[in-house]
Amino acid sequence: MAVIKVGADDLRGRDAAVNELKEYFSALSSRKGRDITYNVRTYGCQLNESDSEKICGMLEQFGLKEVDEDASADVIIFNTCAVRENAEDRLFGNLGIVKADKKSDKDKIIAVCGCMTKVPENVEKIKKSFPYVDLVFDPQQLHLFPIYLRDAIGKKKQLVNISSEDYIVDDSLVPIVRKRKFRALVPIMYGCNNFCTYCIVPYARGRERSRGIDEIIEELNRLAEEGYKEVMLLGQNVNSYKGINGERFPDVLKAAAAIKGFNRIRFMSSHPKDISNEVIDIMASYENIETHLHFALQSGSDDVLKRMNRPYTKAEFLKTVHYFRDTVPGGALSTDIIVGFPGETEEDFKQTLEVVKECAFDSAFTFQYSPRPGTKAAVMEDQIPHDVVTERFGRLLELQNDLAFKSNQAKVGKTEEILIEGQSSTAPDILTGRTLSNHLVNFTIPDELKDPSKTSDDYEGMLCDVKFTNARPYSVDGELVRFK
Ligand code: SAM
Ligand code: SF4
Ligand code: F3S
Repeated sequence: MAVIKVGADDLRGRDAAVNELKEYFSALSSRKGRDITYNVRTYGCQLNESDSEKICGMLEQFGLKEVDEDASADVIIFNTCAVRENAEDRLFGNLGIVKADKKSDKDKIIAVCGCMTKVPENVEKIKKSFPYVDLVFDPQQLHLFPIYLRDAIGKKKQLVNISSEDYIVDDSLVPIVRKRKFRALVPIMYGCNNFCTYCIVPYARGRERSRGIDEIIEELNRLAEEGYKEVMLLGQNVNSYKGINGERFPDVLKAAAAIKGFNRIRFMSSHPKDISNEVIDIMASYENIETHLHFALQSGSDDVLKRMNRPYTKAEFLKTVHYFRDTVPGGALSTDIIVGFPGETEEDFKQTLEVVKECAFDSAFTFQYSPRPGTKAAVMEDQIPHDVVTERFGRLLELQNDLAFKSNQAKVGKTEEILIEGQSSTAPDILTGRTLSNHLVNFTIPDELKDPSKTSDDYEGMLCDVKFTNARPYSVDGELVRFK
């Protein structure tokens, strides 16, 4: 499938739609005598978060104001995830809930986008069971959202626009509202060519395509000037980045780290087949690249890995883990693991437990296998009964929780630099942030260092040193030593 490159000339039609929408919403605002509002609900991974920031950017261009989920916005967008069945179920549940809102206000607009829209069964279900959804469009066509929204409003019947092409759009042409004032999400490549047999992503996100390195560096320089402290380089497989002139991921990583102003460079995801010692060496040699590597094991059994179409062995995975532990002192490893892949035996599962123990992951995302329509694994024989999956899942969780707790315990007594993310969700006088190794830290400010003129929001994005006092299963407690 050819990749279509989209530049400024291709977006002229979109500018006309933006102007029409501005007029439409301004008239609606006068008619209703209040601001016209929006809410974008995001499911799934950081790539979807990044897409949502672009959708918000476009909605604000039309003159709309953001409100939270409970406020029953005039425009509600569901940016969906199809990676597991429970993510899909959540959408259908929430679409049911907004039905009454739509009934009581005919001007309300409900749109569904994101990865679920690339699964034909989902689109059929929306058409049949949720006819009040105004617009369905897929993630490859985000840049055309203003055109689709204008057309959906004009037609007054459900508009479904799903493409069969892959696009690469000059990201500087799409407005962005960044959710965190200190963190910028920067996709460097889109799509996936790996076709792991369980995974829907290559169908939803299309083939791999990389942004030009010059365009990425230009964006990063702009972000540094605007004062962002943390940048997150994103892609389904960042390490398979391929620039137009043969640039590779290490080139992007080094260029990002060399830009003055960024205290934290993060990147995800790394596929074990692509992560090289070179990348790990770069992590060790720049002070502002986080000392945290996320790369997905999925299973510790070579047999299962083969059937998953994950082209590495347990031994190769472990070799990279040991190289990382030796090269990046104090570094942290996180991973993804699937339990209950078709045909997984008790012996296979025990090998996963063994590898997890040897890797001593600092944190892990653990998932119960969920069959995805259209993938090879969904039609494999020997699907594992639910009770066996949940029993194995429990054992893995117990082991991993213990490892995560130990990783947090190892921090107690040390003092490290924290990038403050804001107020803790559990207590107003506690701030939350992360170490360079991505450990989550909740900490207090001693009275003598408190600035009464500051609210918790003012601390967001600041750097400080925190002494760690206590370990919890998923976080570390601490006390601020000094602001930086
Ligand atoms: N590209 C990333 C990689 O390979 O490391 C993974 C991205 S995927 C969105 C995130 C995780 O979801 C995967 O690593 C996998 O563990 C999990 N996942 C994907 N498909 C799944 C399925 N059908 N059932 C359960 N978990 C799944
Ligand atoms: Fe899915 Fe595999 Fe691609 Fe990751 S590498 S997105 S798990 S197909
Ligand atoms: Fe989900 Fe799509 Fe991300 S399937 S995990 S939102 S790429």
